[in-house]
Amino acid sequence: MTIIDGKALSEKILREIEQEHSELEKKVGRKAGLAVIIVGDNPASQIYVRNKIKACERVGFHSETIRLDENITEENLLSEIKKLNNNNNVDGILVQLPLPEHIDELNIINAISAEKDVDGFHTTNIGKMMIGDKSGFLPCTPAGVIQMFEEYNIDLKGKDVLVIGQSNIVGKPMTLLLMRKHATVQTCNSKTKNLSEKLQRADVVIAAAGYPKLVKTTDVKEGVVVIDVGINRVDGKLCGDVDFEEVSKKASFITPVPGGVGPMTIAMLIKNTFKSYNQKMN
Ligand code: GUN
Repeated sequence: MTIIDGKALSEKILREIEQEHSELEKKVGRKAGLAVIIVGDNPASQIYVRNKIKACERVGFHSETIRLDENITEENLLSEIKKLNNNNNVDGILVQLPLPEHIDELNIINAISAEKDVDGFHTTNIGKMMIGDKSGFLPCTPAGVIQMFEEYNIDLKGKDVLVIGQSNIVGKPMTLLLMRKHATVQTCNSKTKNLSEKLQRADVVIAAAGYPKLVKTTDVKEGVVVIDVGINRVDGKLCGDVDFEEVSKKASFITPVPGGVGPMTIAMLIKNTFKSYNQKMN
């Protein structure tokens, strides 16, 4: 059984980008820049944003955090985005989700210039992903999972892959990227019948449902590859959607939480920001 070390892999990616960036920065005379907008004070969002800014510092990028009040109007939020769209020092713009209920999330995402949408959530980038146009940005979490498969030489061709969860951020784009790898993909949601049976048939399981210990050892077959995208807090302790202790006894590969998919998501955000910076240079 191999534990997929997302932390080490993300470090490797960040080191490579740090080096390439420092060389390019000398030539062009400015750093790559990421702007992060956070609305309100959701504690989980605060942690995610802090980690994203820390990663920017780690690779030498310029970063700015724009903290906005929970009660901001959609109009004022749109005008903040417009300023960043026109700011030449900003290559990537990210609006941390979720947003307060009175704000239309899709409207906000699509107000970000598609060329700066390093989250890969803009309708244009989703469309590019769908048809395989490589000029767009891929959503960071599913892109990070694919990178893990590649690094560990896990071949997906012809494999039965079960994706649990159908969010716009993870489940849906994950399914598309797996299709590109010629996997046979089945997706599940909270209404799915006989989840346990489906799990037992899967060669690869990607758990992105947000329920602690949803995937148990009785559900999976010997040699399964398990990717745990869940980030749950139980009794103050961080855990995924997979019962790691038990499932790791049957798995051939498994990701831990923390230290698995999380750091890879951040590495992909940095990679997308660097891609945007490079695209502007050319
Ligand atoms: N909220 C949870 N995950 C994400 C993410 O990847 N990007 C943004 N912007 N918000 C999130």
